[in-house]
Amino acid sequence: MHKILYKGRGIEHAYDEGKIKTAVLKGVDLDIEASKMTAIVGKSGSGKSTLLHILGTLDTPDKGDIYFQDVLINGLSSRAKARFRNRHLGFVYQFHHLLGDFTALENVMLPLLIDKVNPALAKERAQYLLDRVGLVSHMHHLPSELSGGERQRAAIARALVYSPEMVLADEPTGNLDETNAAKVFELLQELVRDEGSAVVMVTHDMSLAKQCDTIYEMAGGVIKDGTFSDSDSEVASVVSKLALSRAAKEVKLKTKGS
Ligand SMILES: Nc1ncnc2c1ncn2[C@@H]1O[C@H](COP(=O)(O)OP(=O)(O)OP(=O)(O)O)[C@@H](O)[C@H]1O
Ligand SMILES: [Mg+2]
Repeated sequence: MHKILYKGRGIEHAYDEGKIKTAVLKGVDLDIEASKMTAIVGKSGSGKSTLLHILGTLDTPDKGDIYFQDVLINGLSSRAKARFRNRHLGFVYQFHHLLGDFTALENVMLPLLIDKVNPALAKERAQYLLDRVGLVSHMHHLPSELSGGERQRAAIARALVYSPEMVLADEPTGNLDETNAAKVFELLQELVRDEGSAVVMVTHDMSLAKQCDTIYEMAGGVIKDGTFSDSDSEVASVVSKLALSRAAKEVKLKTKGS
């Protein structure tokens, strides 16, 4: 029995557009195992990005529960959610969201600086990751001075900078050529293998999806053919939120020298 890091139960979500309500998620159940790669596939518009945003606490579901390490996270305050995201999650957006006034290096360092990690270590770690995504020569460029694929790679480096326990990546290789897509995928695999992170990756690339440990397919607002344990979800809401207090100093950040 593997450790379940993330558990979603009965997740429902609709978008309001004037008088019309479009139900996108209609009761999604999913388990995400620790230290595994999970692919989410499905047709365009099937709700993959919506689900990822909800798992990442960037959006709140209309119904349903999301547990991370048995803590109910959709009930946290917005401040606690922000802390949760910074400490536990790396989010790679479908459209990159780099900060335009900061260089690639600064963008990647930022999550660590916010958490008061030593700036020299933050820089070393950021450079290590930018090197891994093949961007070290462009690290002093602003996002506007990078190509789409380069921005995507910088965003991936930023998502991984904190060695997050969970990476939520929305088409991380969508804008990349085959070589860079393979590089990014290897980096995600390395994160899982060496640092025990879990990666959830939305992708349209079935050859990458097939290399993941689990594939979930979204269709009709649900995940097709999922099998989930149900026994322990009630106890979760009473577990102390202290389980989520992962301190900066506990995280070992791999750099070139280590
Ligand atoms: N902010 C929004 N307001 C209204 N409708 C939205 C909003 N965001 C998404 N939708 C709708 O919800 C549905 C699911 O969108 P979502 O972005 O989750 O799909 P997706 O599976 O990620 O698609 P793709 O593969 O094209 O990225 C779509 O029909 C979309 O039009
Ligand atoms: Mg999407």
